[in-house]
Amino acid sequence: MASMNTSHSTADVAVVGLGRVGLPLALSFADRGLTVIGIDNDPARLGAIADGRMPFAETGAQEMLDRVHAGGALTLGDAVAGAAGARHIVITLGTPSFSHIEIDMRDIRSALDDLLGVLRPGHSLILRSTIAPGTTEFVAGYVAKHRGFEIGEEVFVAHAPERIAAGRFLEEIDTLPCIIGGVGERSGEVVAELFAAFSAPIVQTTPVQAELAKIWANILRYTHFALPNLLMMDCERYAANVFEVIDLINRDYPRGGIAQPGLTAGTCLRKDFTFSEERSAAPGMLLAVSRVNESVPLFLLEGAKRRLGELANRRVAVLGLAFKADTDDERDSLAHKLIRLLERELADVSVHDPHVSTPTLSFEQALAGAEVVFVASNHSEFRGAGALAAIADGAAPDCLVVDPWNCWGASQVFAYASELIVLMPTQPPA
Ligand SMILES: NC(=O)c1ccc[n+]([C@@H]2O[C@H](COP(=O)([O-])OP(=O)(O)OC[C@H]3O[C@@H](n4cnc5c(N)ncnc54)[C@H](O)[C@@H]3O)[C@@H](O)[C@H]2O)c1
Repeated sequence: MASMNTSHSTADVAVVGLGRVGLPLALSFADRGLTVIGIDNDPARLGAIADGRMPFAETGAQEMLDRVHAGGALTLGDAVAGAAGARHIVITLGTPSFSHIEIDMRDIRSALDDLLGVLRPGHSLILRSTIAPGTTEFVAGYVAKHRGFEIGEEVFVAHAPERIAAGRFLEEIDTLPCIIGGVGERSGEVVAELFAAFSAPIVQTTPVQAELAKIWANILRYTHFALPNLLMMDCERYAANVFEVIDLINRDYPRGGIAQPGLTAGTCLRKDFTFSEERSAAPGMLLAVSRVNESVPLFLLEGAKRRLGELANRRVAVLGLAFKADTDDERDSLAHKLIRLLERELADVSVHDPHVSTPTLSFEQALAGAEVVFVASNHSEFRGAGALAAIADGAAPDCLVVDPWNCWGASQVFAYASELIVLMPTQPPA
């Protein structure tokens, strides 16, 4: 057991899974004066936290860890059963999807099995992970079946989905409405007592409505970005400019607008739709949305080949590995897919990302002699005039720049660096 506080006294709350969701949540509870048990089975993660080092970037989290470290309100452990030392047990384990388009809840099942024997009346079990509709009722049924507890009276089970965007945890934990879907008579009310530690309004609902609200917020976003991505591909077919078409759609139009294209991915968007798709009334619809977003790297690569010919033995620079701007999170990033596809073309790929922990080349090294530059993540470092000037200086003469993000406001997915320098507006887009 790695330990920040070796006392075994009963805690207010345990958080099982100290990942990108669980660790900021555990620290926030401790920072609000609750006694917290943090459980993770990764010794490296526990070691980093015990040493006072955030294992990933989250705005303000390192300062919060420093405060919690000094306060001693967080006890760390590696055995899930240790969570039973707290009144509220929050599960923040990963919930990937199987390739069968079905939730993979093995981590949750295994945690549940570890907890079954130690659950006692008064405990609340809160699923914070993203889950397929019906999972909360399954968990409640599993506990009732194996332990005979009356759920909602003796033991409390609820879904309280995490809806905060990475990088905004500290801001949104106090503002984003906290949805609670409790099972039975009193689960919602008991779990609301825990989340009252934060200032966000609490919205009570049924478990399945909480599950649907969480996954459909991500489905909406995933679909929202698939449309401009599909439009980008259509525009290439018709020799039209996607940014001009988007401007024509949106300009002074009072009935909503279309988003901008990009490499749309990340763990949540890439898999949460499968939790609906596994028993969809329109099977395949969301799978098609996914296929559009997933085909953007190939579309970009083929666009480069249409302009330059084969990419074999050419130097290609990929800027960005993270799945979204200014984060260090590479999980399920389409930049990796783009690199895999480029390597299959036998291109010589060099990569630069100033945020991620994976070692990459410097900006200058990655650009040196590149005949094509792909902007895979729209990090702020890539958006200024300086970055474009560095490409024009460091890459091969007349290097092709592939930028679905419109980083420089030049409104060209495929353009030569020399053209972009001329087109560059004085101010890059916000
Ligand atoms: N990352 C996000 O921005 C985000 C946002 C909203 C919802 N979610 C959802 O929240 C859940 C957690 O996501 P995450 O990004 O924090 O995942 P993560 O992979 O970063 O964290 C999971 C943690 O659980 C630990 N773990 C795995 N198995 C364990 C076990 N048996 N016992 C103890 N610890 C174990 C891992 O070591 C890891 O630290 C998922 O359901 C995800 O879909 C994530």
